[in-house]
Amino acid sequence: MTERTLTIIKPDGVQRHLAGRIIARFEEKGLQLVAAKLVQITEEMARRHYAAHKDKPFFEPAVKFMSAAPSLVMIWQGEGVINMSRKMIGSTFGFDAVAGTIRGDFGRSERYNLIHGSDSPESAEKEIEMFFAPDEILDYEFSDARWLYVQRGSPKK
Ligand code: TYD
Ligand code: MG
Repeated sequence: MTERTLTIIKPDGVQRHLAGRIIARFEEKGLQLVAAKLVQITEEMARRHYAAHKDKPFFEPAVKFMSAAPSLVMIWQGEGVINMSRKMIGSTFGFDAVAGTIRGDFGRSERYNLIHGSDSPESAEKEIEMFFAPDEILDYEFSDARWLYVQRGSPKK
């Protein structure tokens, strides 16, 4: 099923000039960018975004970090994009994220881990709503779609 995920290149990713290289990985994978904007996330927005972690010791520092400088907020679309992009992003801490993942290749910090990706269809829906109005999300076809997509269960081409 076609899904959408909210992806945030966090302040460290933008500040370290890695936004283009991170976006390239999503493009190379054949995922489709359907919305994007540079956002100065406020502390209030960051609190909402990380509400599930509000009782954790890292909550306040994470809020401060996310609101410290602009972030590049995007929606990527594709079949299975939520799980696929979580795998591409890698595990939470740069110091133990596997090489070949974004966090594994570009960072070694606990908190400054470059990128956020929604972890389930439910959080994707909520997070997308927080950052984008429906008319900011575009619907368009890739001209090379037939070379990129074989849907699971569809006949071989
Ligand atoms: P979490 O949702 O657990 O990780 P992920 O981004 O992989 O889904 O945590 C949210 C963010 O909080 C995480 O990206 C970085 C920060 N964080 C810490 O600073 N320390 C921690 O111990 C954890 C678990 C997260
Ligand atoms: Mg998370």
